[in-house]
Amino acid sequence: MPPSPAPPSRPVRVALPGGRGYDVHFRPLADVPALLAGAGLAPGLGLVVTDASVGPLSLDRARGPLRAAGWRPEATAVPAGEASKSLHQLAALYDWALGLGLDRATPLLALGGGVVGDLAGFAAATLLRGLPLVHLPTSVIAQVDSAVGGKTGINHAAGKNLVGAFHQPRLVLADPATLATLPERDFRSGLAEVVKHALLEGEAAVARLEADLERVLAREPAALAGTIRRAAAFKAAVVAEDEREAGRRAVLNLGHTFAHAIEQAEGYGRLTHGEAVALGLRAALHLSASVRAGRVWTEPALPERFVRADRLAARLPLPHALTAPTEALLAAMGTDKKRAGTRLRFVVLDALGRPRVTPDVPPGAVEAAWTHARTVAGLTAPS
Ligand SMILES: NC(=O)c1ccc[n+]([C@@H]2O[C@H](COP(=O)([O-])OP(=O)(O)OC[C@H]3O[C@@H](n4cnc5c(N)ncnc54)[C@H](O)[C@@H]3O)[C@@H](O)[C@H]2O)c1
Repeated sequence: MPPSPAPPSRPVRVALPGGRGYDVHFRPLADVPALLAGAGLAPGLGLVVTDASVGPLSLDRARGPLRAAGWRPEATAVPAGEASKSLHQLAALYDWALGLGLDRATPLLALGGGVVGDLAGFAAATLLRGLPLVHLPTSVIAQVDSAVGGKTGINHAAGKNLVGAFHQPRLVLADPATLATLPERDFRSGLAEVVKHALLEGEAAVARLEADLERVLAREPAALAGTIRRAAAFKAAVVAEDEREAGRRAVLNLGHTFAHAIEQAEGYGRLTHGEAVALGLRAALHLSASVRAGRVWTEPALPERFVRADRLAARLPLPHALTAPTEALLAAMGTDKKRAGTRLRFVVLDALGRPRVTPDVPPGAVEAAWTHARTVAGLTAPS
């Protein structure tokens, strides 16, 4: 029997003050003209930015209906991959967009994964001091995370995401069908953020994901759609509470202090962001055990309260081997002398659904978390 189609799901509201709230819709890309109209955007020139992999697969599914509704869509594609989050590609987008005779009412539609969303989102934030932005996310990471919350930006030689702006979209349209063509490695990598959201949300979310993960990994439509919606809804709720990361939103960085160091020390591109996050989550759980114990956790097994979280993260079939030496990972974290005087802040869990941010970790606990990550990386079952 063919898999049953995913049931239609209600939009998720990102409730922001000052009339800036918006909806995340889970509908076919063909619905984009109706949703633009609903968001008060009248037909005219529309800028569509995609990448070279997503464009051939999905562009016409949005462009045809836009034309039929009276829009004049102009499209461009950047090369696929993290390297496109660059000043060079941003400048190319500026040249392209400004050559089309846009005005402040011209929407920019970002069709693709997190790279396109971050790059095109930053172009939208800065062109004419701000164009209406519409996210059309096509990867798991983009649908549950990057298209929700308004962070846009590009990379700099000094580090990832160092140049950017908060620019909230007018709407997000996440078509569940686009995920069917996502390469397996990117699909699984994106699930690391889904696991992270569940650990932060609490026991009920973890129980649900534990029950659904097998079907999600098989991309069973109903299970996948429900999981994506719940993870996006969690992000939306956190963003609504703390739009600019003055407090609560920082918990979304669970595992990310480790993950960013892994990406940097291993060399960008060797592991995907999601693979680094999956491993970073396991390091963060070990650190949580040390913080809770008030000493470096040396027992081979994690304390009972973290075992369930660790098991869930371990179920992601990702190639995890960590090859960079611990000194390189610590240096990449900023614990080297360049950062003397500043204290790193870590997101730790007190329990499922109870994250907190702390600079106070027992001496040696971060090193021990890296050792743990290295050990479990070796043990993770290959796909
Ligand atoms: N702004 C935020 O809040 C935020 C949050 C999380 C991650 N991010 C950023 O997101 C990026 C990672 O996102 P990503 O994993 O989506 O990366 P990505 O955009 O590079 O997409 C991964 C790969 O999948 C391809 N792809 C995307 N959708 C596809 C589809 N439907 N079919 C076939 N191929 C498809 C892309 O072309 C690319 O090769 C990083 O740059 C990260 O910093 C931003």
